[in-house]
Amino acid sequence: MKIVIVYDSKTGNTEKMAKAIADGASEIAEVELKKIGEAFPLTVMAKADGVVFGSPVYYADISNEMKDFLVHVESYIKANKKKIHDRPAAVFGSYGYDGAWIMEERLKARIESLGYQAYDDVCVLVDTDIKYHEDSLDSCKEFGKKFAESI
Ligand SMILES: Cc1cc2nc3c(=O)[nH]c(=O)nc-3n(C[C@H](O)[C@H](O)[C@H](O)COP(=O)(O)O)c2cc1C
Repeated sequence: MKIVIVYDSKTGNTEKMAKAIADGASEIAEVELKKIGEAFPLTVMAKADGVVFGSPVYYADISNEMKDFLVHVESYIKANKKKIHDRPAAVFGSYGYDGAWIMEERLKARIESLGYQAYDDVCVLVDTDIKYHEDSLDSCKEFGKKFAESI
């Protein structure tokens, strides 16, 4: 079984979450981490049994890089060359003050509208916990493992 984790991160917080989720998921599945901005073929997502999308919150929304990425995913889906959606997907992300709901409402709704089957649970952490309480990342590890087990 294979899981791909696609994430954006500018100052490294969401990246730490992505790595912890990968740690947990890799107990069950083969995991590939892909950072938005690095070159990779979207067919990587076609080969995955599950996808995990992660974004930081910027100005009360997911990052522009994640928005753009999802636009590319949408046009790839419309081109209908290979199915990259139509499978379980989970979301995670970090925020600084009031942005926790962005993952639950915005990112989850976006991946559902693309045809992914959204995993109920989300993994969301505030930046100060990621920076100063490293054990908060244990919840990401657990999240990754549980998502992998659910597939
Ligand atoms: C320009 C800017 C805008 C931000 N806007 C929000 C926001 O609207 N709501 C919020 O909760 N956090 C906001 N934050 C905090 C980030 O979401 C938080 O620090 C996050 O962990 C950054 O993730 P990254 O290190 O993966 O880039 C903002 C940070 C910056 C620098």
